[in-house]
Amino acid sequence: MGQEIKRIGVLTSGGDASGMNAAIRGVVHAGLSAGVEVVGIYDGYEGLIAGNSAVLSHEDVAEIIGRGGTFLRTARCPAFMTPEGVKKGYDKARELGLDALVVIGGNGSYLGALDLSRLGLPVIGIPATIDNDISSTEYTIGFDTAMNVALTYIECVRDTASSMSRCSIIEVMGRHAGYIAYYTAIAAGAEAVLLPEYPYDLEKDVIEPIRKWKERGKKNYIIVAAEGAEGVRELPTKIQDALGMKPTYSEIGYMQRGGSPTVRDRALASLMAEKAVSCLLSGEYNRLITVQNGKIGSVDIEEGNKMTKCIDEALVRAEKKLSLR
Ligand code: F6P
Repeated sequence: MGQEIKRIGVLTSGGDASGMNAAIRGVVHAGLSAGVEVVGIYDGYEGLIAGNSAVLSHEDVAEIIGRGGTFLRTARCPAFMTPEGVKKGYDKARELGLDALVVIGGNGSYLGALDLSRLGLPVIGIPATIDNDISSTEYTIGFDTAMNVALTYIECVRDTASSMSRCSIIEVMGRHAGYIAYYTAIAAGAEAVLLPEYPYDLEKDVIEPIRKWKERGKKNYIIVAAEGAEGVRELPTKIQDALGMKPTYSEIGYMQRGGSPTVRDRALASLMAEKAVSCLLSGEYNRLITVQNGKIGSVDIEEGNKMTKCIDEALVRAEKKLSLR
């Protein structure tokens, strides 16, 4: 059993994701109902270093569960990549009287939380990034909302591609991961998906299938490309050189980071937040909240940060069968 937890800090860090507000609300409600004070830290680790904080009440988080983004704001914090910056954050946390800190964010934010834990501040990580690329969990807050936003835009492009008999490439976010691309391509019935995890062969995976579809009388082709896949920006020229048709290219961009969170993101964010607070109150800290085999749990922060994950090869093979490649 560790030190008594009476005052918890909560911050959002890294790229924002829809559902972060639901997670903050969950920490406040679960904390207050356990008699714990909750201190909101604005602007991520930058705000922690600056001591930019406020005690949060039920009223502060009223009616935010359905709002995209994070009302505590977030930031990427280069200072936290240095021991000096982490020490400043640690010292400020202690100055604010924090007994523990809940960090809602992605991989970079988790490394900052690990560094704080090594200085002696009890921490809990809640996975939140639209990329779904945190290895210790099968789900990260914001992923479902981002996929549904992306699908809306892919289907809009499909409307014009089918009207104009065009090949259209739609680039989605995900940084170095292809989870958004993979599932939205299946959901949209795309003819091809390009993933960073599995290098594609332009001739075999793109040109030949388009030729085959053309022979079958298809007149439009949707290709979903993860932004991290090799050479996606050069695809239009390469397809035009090979097939004489100039594809359209649409980068969905930052729309995928916003929007009202889906039921899945609101519910999982709330339940993960409750789990985070109950871990802290039972003395289980320096852990990362996870979804594994559909269940909410936690792993040790040192172990969790060493884990790896990748889109399963069997899933990639299945997608090829579904898109007739
Ligand atoms: O990590 C989330 C994410 O949206 C990635 O998918 C994207 O590549 C990146 O953030 C963009 O970073 P920034 O918001 O700093 O431009």
